[in-house]
Amino acid sequence: MIGIDIREDILQLARQKAVSAGVQNTCLFASSTKEAADVVVSVDAFEHFADPAGILHSMNTLQQPAGEVLVSFGPTWYHPLGGHLFSVFPWAHLLFSEKALIRWRSTFKTDGATRFSEVAGGLNQMTIAKFEELIAGSPLRLASLELVPIKKLRRFHNRLTREFTTAVVRCRLVKRT
Ligand SMILES: C[S@@+](CC[C@H](N)C(=O)[O-])C[C@H]1O[C@@H](n2cnc3c(N)ncnc32)[C@H](O)[C@@H]1O
Repeated sequence: MIGIDIREDILQLARQKAVSAGVQNTCLFASSTKEAADVVVSVDAFEHFADPAGILHSMNTLQQPAGEVLVSFGPTWYHPLGGHLFSVFPWAHLLFSEKALIRWRSTFKTDGATRFSEVAGGLNQMTIAKFEELIAGSPLRLASLELVPIKKLRRFHNRLTREFTTAVVRCRLVKRT
């Protein structure tokens, strides 16, 4: 098992957890890999990638010929809390400008980020439609897609409202044949 993240502090934490669980010899953590995998799993990260199309290409390259890619992520951009830290109340990230929210963030964070995309770990404003578009232009195809509704909004969840009422996007991707 190889765990990938671009943040060294997160990798270090994962290494410590692997030691505590006694799996440090089988679980490695790195910022990149060239090792092909039976299964590529991406959890809660797709709305953070600076280059999501490039990540789909990497995932395709990294999986074995009969492998698969499992992706689960959210909240997406139009979810009430899709702005992550910037959603100080539901949909606050859509009401205020990026400039205003970044200025507010700079009152307690000193990393110098000037865009959503520059906050630690990244935030790419991913929507469900954008994700589908990226898949359509990638070497992978959707073998299955599940849009898990926000529990309280389950009754209103449909094709038209999905961007605002989906909690988690889950899918299985396979190589195009
Ligand atoms: C919300 S966290 C989820 C972390 C972990 N997958 C989990 O489920 O606990 C999103 C992570 O994506 C990482 N990330 C952002 N861009 C990345 C990239 N290009 N490659 C690898 N990791 C990335 C961030 O550093 C951040 O730790």
